Amino acid sequence: MGLVGRHELRSLSAHLSRWQKIALGFAISLFLIYATAPYDGSLRAFFRFQHSVAQNYYQGQHPSDGWLYRRQRYPLDADKDIGLIIKTGYGTKHRMPLALRALSNESFFADVLVVQDFPVIPEQKQYNLTNGKAVDIVDILGWNLKRGALKGREHLERIYKYKNLADAVEAEEWVLSEGLGKAIGWELDAMKFLPALEYAWNTLPKKKWYVMLDDDTYVIKNTLSLLLGHLNFGQPHYLGNPVGDYKGRFPHGGSSVILSGATLRNLFEWHPEIVAEANLESPFAIWGDKLLSTTLMKVAIYLDETYRRFFNGEHPWMTRLWADRLCLPIMGFHGLGERQIMEQVGEVFKDPKGPVLWSSVAKIYGVPDYQKFIDVPIRPNMNYVGRLDEQVTMVENVARAEDCFDICDGHSTVCMAWVYDPAIKRCDLAPWAILGDLADGRFSGVNGKLGKRLVERCHGPS
Ligand SMILES: *[C@@H]1O[C@H](CO)[C@@H](O)[C@H](O)[C@H]1NC(C)=O
Ligand SMILES: *[C@@H]1O[C@H](CO)[C@@H](O)[C@H](O)[C@H]1NC(C)=O
Repeated sequence: MGLVGRHELRSLSAHLSRWQKIALGFAISLFLIYATAPYDGSLRAFFRFQHSVAQNYYQGQHPSDGWLYRRQRYPLDADKDIGLIIKTGYGTKHRMPLALRALSNESFFADVLVVQDFPVIPEQKQYNLTNGKAVDIVDILGWNLKRGALKGREHLERIYKYKNLADAVEAEEWVLSEGLGKAIGWELDAMKFLPALEYAWNTLPKKKWYVMLDDDTYVIKNTLSLLLGHLNFGQPHYLGNPVGDYKGRFPHGGSSVILSGATLRNLFEWHPEIVAEANLESPFAIWGDKLLSTTLMKVAIYLDETYRRFFNGEHPWMTRLWADRLCLPIMGFHGLGERQIMEQVGEVFKDPKGPVLWSSVAKIYGVPDYQKFIDVPIRPNMNYVGRLDEQVTMVENVARAEDCFDICDGHSTVCMAWVYDPAIKRCDLAPWAILGDLADGRFSGVNGKLGKRLVERCHGPS
């Protein structure tokens, strides 16, 4: 601090009362404690969490989408600038050709890396996109073992399991492999995240963005371009659908995880020792997506929850169309493991004409629009709420379906859908609506007035 600064400080301190000085001292100590706290410590985690709760509340109250259609500062060509990393396993490898065809259907011809938990054998079909573009495949666990990143961990059960599976595959014991693959798939999955990203960083042409997804996840190219064009890929970014408590927030892997090139450079080029530690931890990890998060925290890269409303961890019929995101584009779908569902999605979203908003999912699937719910508000044998959780408000002792509808109508900013069960006289109210499930004996409806009002405010090129 220069002389002038010191002088100013002294004259400032002369003007402060005793209590003000104590408060100032207290604030400075707090700042110092915070500034010197470890990046992945609980103190920082606590403040980050409070910040994202406040931000989330604000965004929920004031949904905004206009910024998306302003000029992009970092426009990108999704095919060239995004690297896709798809995780698969022996038990689910049959999904890969469909997942790749579904991407091709929306003309998403990015560089794709498939990471799997078993050796690539000559019999395994080469994967292609439908334009003929070859897709790289790697046995990511084998690669990580071979290069010695799991040194000293070879005796662990999980590594044995991988080796048993690898042996069975190489011996062409298909029935055994099938059984093993299904039983241990999730355990091996937790070990894929970090080496998959490192392998992609080392082998794919350098990308502005990397998107990691599961073989039962579908991403919408248009949404990626629309969002990422506003973000600086030269800075560390780490985006996803947050889950977990404040100490270890991490993005739900199934909803897809987005990382900027700068994030991967920071991790793999500048902090190899932290990556090495994480690899050694991976045979114990329950969730790979969480391990990735706690590892990135050590280099001060945190999950950015600002764009959480883009991500979706459900398949189309279970997708929750929340009131607070109707105007935003949707990132994709998850849980498309069954053959027909992935094919259906690949068909429905083929040749996209523009942004796919949360609110347009209903239209795309041909379910009644908001006006139709205003005209006919009560629908028998339907359920527009879906799976219940703690965000659903349950009202007991409701006499009739009409009353349930009235309660929802009365909570006009928080109730997006209601379902009434006459057998137990219970009325459930949700801040979202699903496309609609058949439900014998129930009555249900969507808050058409609220939906219509919200959608009329969308800025999108609708
Ligand atoms: C996939 O790519 C390989 C190599 O580029 C090519 O030989 C093969 O014909 C392609 N297969 C399909 C189905 O396009
Ligand atoms: C791609 O689109 C075609 C026809 O439009 C459809 O038949 C096919 O099921 C789709 N494929 C996938 C894997 O989604």
